[in-house]
Amino acid sequence: MHITARAAADIDPLVEVLWRVHLGGYPAGWPDDPAAWLDPDGLLGAWVATDGDEVIGHVGLTVPAPGRMPSITRLFVEPDRRGAGVADALLDAAERACPGTHVRLDVTEETPAAWRLYERRGWRLTGRGPADWCKPTGEVPTLRYYAKRVG
Ligand SMILES: CC(C)(COP(=O)(O)OP(=O)(O)OC[C@H]1O[C@@H](n2cnc3c(N)ncnc32)[C@H](O)[C@@H]1OP(=O)(O)O)[C@@H](O)C(=O)NCCC(=O)NCCS
Repeated sequence: MHITARAAADIDPLVEVLWRVHLGGYPAGWPDDPAAWLDPDGLLGAWVATDGDEVIGHVGLTVPAPGRMPSITRLFVEPDRRGAGVADALLDAAERACPGTHVRLDVTEETPAAWRLYERRGWRLTGRGPADWCKPTGEVPTLRYYAKRVG
């Protein structure tokens, strides 16, 4: 498994991976334009995990608005490649990209596979609150907010 900076050619295979991840609930709603969803405003960097020619995971790092803390975003791993350290390796790459700074992220309460991983990696829970978006069912999920000083 290798971690590399995301290239334009990775987008189509990543959308395929994202579709299978979405069938398990992330993201809660399928984006109208999944390629644009992978490229949110303020993206500082994005990394992919590959195994041979296969793209198996992704993470992004963004500054959502000027003056805001960098934020981990769009972390996902191909469902049948989980539990083997792929997300760990992706987070290593994203955290290495901003040494000495505080980084934040938020994660829904209902995805313990994700927030357990963050807590194991030293991310600190700073609060909880309602999301500013709702699921296709209309339900507003509760988010857990995390921060970490990296590097
Ligand atoms: C959350 C997610 C990214 C984790 O990906 P992953 O590649 O399975 O993560 P890792 O393999 O690095 O770690 C997962 C578990 O496998 C374990 N693991 C890691 N390497 C391992 C290995 N070589 N052998 C056995 N287990 C291993 C880890 O200890 C970890 O266990 P824990 O969560 O109980 O601490 C993945 O489940 C996912 O894509 N979920 C859907 C999308 C999502 O929720 N994204 C987060 C949005 S904020």
